[in-house]
Amino acid sequence: MKKIFVKTYGCQMNEYDSERMTELMQSQGYIATNNQDEADVVVLNTCHIREKATEKVYSELGRINHSDIKSGKQRLIAVAGCVAQAEGKEIFKRAKNVDMVFGPQSYHKLPEYIKAANDGQKVFEADFYEEEKFKALPFTPAPHKVSSFLSIQEGCDKFCTFCVVPYTRGAEFSRKSYDIIEEAKILIDNGVKEITLLGQNVNAYHGKDYNGHTLSLAELCHQLSEISGLERIRYTTSHPKDMSDDLYQAHRDIEKLMPYLHLPIQSGSDRILQKMNRKHSRHDYIEIIHKMRQARPDLALSGDFIVGFPDESDKDFEDTLNLVKEVRYASSFSFKYSPRPGTPASELENQIDENIKSQRLAILQELLFEQQKSFNQSLIGKRLSVLVEKQGRHEGQLVGRSPYLQSVYFDTKNNIKIGDIVSIDISGFSLNSLNGDVVL
Ligand code: 5AD
Ligand code: SF4
Repeated sequence: MKKIFVKTYGCQMNEYDSERMTELMQSQGYIATNNQDEADVVVLNTCHIREKATEKVYSELGRINHSDIKSGKQRLIAVAGCVAQAEGKEIFKRAKNVDMVFGPQSYHKLPEYIKAANDGQKVFEADFYEEEKFKALPFTPAPHKVSSFLSIQEGCDKFCTFCVVPYTRGAEFSRKSYDIIEEAKILIDNGVKEITLLGQNVNAYHGKDYNGHTLSLAELCHQLSEISGLERIRYTTSHPKDMSDDLYQAHRDIEKLMPYLHLPIQSGSDRILQKMNRKHSRHDYIEIIHKMRQARPDLALSGDFIVGFPDESDKDFEDTLNLVKEVRYASSFSFKYSPRPGTPASELENQIDENIKSQRLAILQELLFEQQKSFNQSLIGKRLSVLVEKQGRHEGQLVGRSPYLQSVYFDTKNNIKIGDIVSIDISGFSLNSLNGDVVL
């Protein structure tokens, strides 16, 4: 039996795509392996969002042997995902051992590509087949999975000036609502309790139903919430411009929709937001958070930040710090600006010195981590519902997720099983997790 190893870089969308590629090859008789050395086919599902992510792929390619040292058997190597889409055939020049290069919208053709590569061809594909891709991929989740991603939307039409996504993932595309619901039901029949709806711009979702009506993300969440056995719904990543009244209301009305929102702002300076082409102001963002917290007062808020965007002054950076202080985050992701080839911002003057970027990132992260800790601390003494996901590190310990997405550690009691939702009295916290005791 042939074996396939898929290594994932970058975002949750890539994790979802990697699972689907693996399942597709399993349906063709392949076995999935985590050991690159025993694989007949190695697929690197790559990320192009920042320079470091791309360089990691090239250094990994340098380490993969094209033929097996022991048996001498030929191993096929594929570069999939956003680096493949962005760098194209250049990859064959920089890494001679690569057999296949294909972008994120053609995974359903992987069996064909492998066949052609086995026949000695160099395979290249950068076309977009969004709808076809989803339809053609089989779906059976891995056993014992209680929380799963479900991709509902792909691509982006926003064109933030720093970002490669509109070029690598293509134009915004929403899957049909009935395909999503069918996939959700399969997940639930296989033991999944929590679904995270994925999209680069998930709240721009506008998929059609059977009658040809367009559904919003909120309407889709309502429909999903009616599926019995589905306990929790999440979605990520949202854009401020696409926040809508029905989404606030959904957070107020749908019990299964978790009180968590990942809403990147990137910068707290209007001047920089404009240069980033974010299409919203600092004020707009603060208003959104206000409305969201009115609808769901216990909301945990998460965001993305970029420091050192071209021409960012000390004052602009101060504005970001002030915004963070005003908004208060429960978690966050923050990055140094990385100029990406082909994006408008990479051509701007006044690129910021790396040392200044590093200093700003350290200051921002100190503030964000402090906020994350105080959010976790504020949960001490509270009783939270926790979805049990897996065994902990110690004997008899289990780990689950709170509604606010932190890991929660506790000692098992009374045959609690993975997939159960239990009440935990929170008694301790760290930066990334909580712990407590089961309430019987
Ligand atoms: N440099 C640094 N960070 C970036 N991101 C996207 N493009 C860049 C870039 N060129 C960050 C943004 C986005 C997250 C997924 O990655 O914060 O929200
Ligand atoms: Fe990139 Fe902006 Fe689209 Fe997000 S909204 S994927 S940052 S272009």
